Amino acid sequence: MAASATAAVIREVNERYHDGAATGYDAKWGIDFGPVGQQQVVGKLAKALGHEPGPYARALEIGAGTGYFSLNLVQAGVVREAVCTDISPGMLETLQANAKGLGLSVETVACDAESLPFDDASFDFVLGHAVLHHLPDLDGAFRELLRVLRPGGTFAFAGEPSRRGDRIATFPKRAAVRAAPVWRRVLRAQPAELGHSDGGAENHQYEGAVDVHAFSPEELAGFARRAGFADVRVRGEELLASWFGWTNRTLEASADPDTVPFAWKLYAYRGYLLLQEVDRRLLERRLPPAIFYNLMVAGRRP
Ligand SMILES: C[S@@+](CC[C@H](N)C(=O)[O-])C[C@H]1O[C@@H](n2cnc3c(N)ncnc32)[C@H](O)[C@@H]1O
Repeated sequence: MAASATAAVIREVNERYHDGAATGYDAKWGIDFGPVGQQQVVGKLAKALGHEPGPYARALEIGAGTGYFSLNLVQAGVVREAVCTDISPGMLETLQANAKGLGLSVETVACDAESLPFDDASFDFVLGHAVLHHLPDLDGAFRELLRVLRPGGTFAFAGEPSRRGDRIATFPKRAAVRAAPVWRRVLRAQPAELGHSDGGAENHQYEGAVDVHAFSPEELAGFARRAGFADVRVRGEELLASWFGWTNRTLEASADPDTVPFAWKLYAYRGYLLLQEVDRRLLERRLPPAIFYNLMVAGRRP
């Protein structure tokens, strides 16, 4: 009883927080729907799967947010028909506005990933990015994902925080909080209003309550295997890029975005892309997944 009450609160807080954060979400996370965004998303899937992805006739995304994965995958020709779901109607409104701006047509359905309103075996591909760590009942969610996927169909999730990587990332975040006043002075940036990138101070208070898991690679694979998926593989990505990214995002979150110089934004963006390449070419093949910030998991329905 207590556990299910807690699960209900987690879902409610996720819906409320993401509804409030939806309008500023793409700017906060630097989400791109051009060639760079497409390359990033296709590259992440290729890493998760161990081969080039798709093409998939009909795909379901859970926790689709503003459309980062699905809209880029449709544009890249990896997915033909995308059904985008999320617990937050506000995020799906922004997703539809993004789709309209790109001239794309996608179906959106507001629903909980743990209770999907779709027929059995109705998708060729099921995916998500940065969503599993928000779900209170992961065993239930993976059972639902298996149910709606056709036999032989593929699933892939990326952007899930690793427990060890998350712990390591607290150091650059803390250092950046301490350095923020000096950084703003040097760049002549003005302090931000609290929660400006999360839809205001009231909404910002929920930010810490929406993330409910960080994973070890074995735990993440365990959820998929227990549900009945086969050929389950877990990979890690982003080490240097995540330290660099978290430092800069924490500094930038302390400032009014309109007063942060363009040259800084360019440096942060290009530096992040460069370090992602260093991680990909040098570190991800050599180091164990557990130390990277992000985990990805993929497999297929037997
Ligand atoms: C960190 S955001 C990621 C959004 C998008 N996938 C991206 O990568 O930009 C997590 C998303 O998961 C959604 N979410 C949280 N709990 C959920 C649930 N129980 N069922 C479905 N979606 C959920 C949130 O509303 C939010 O849009």
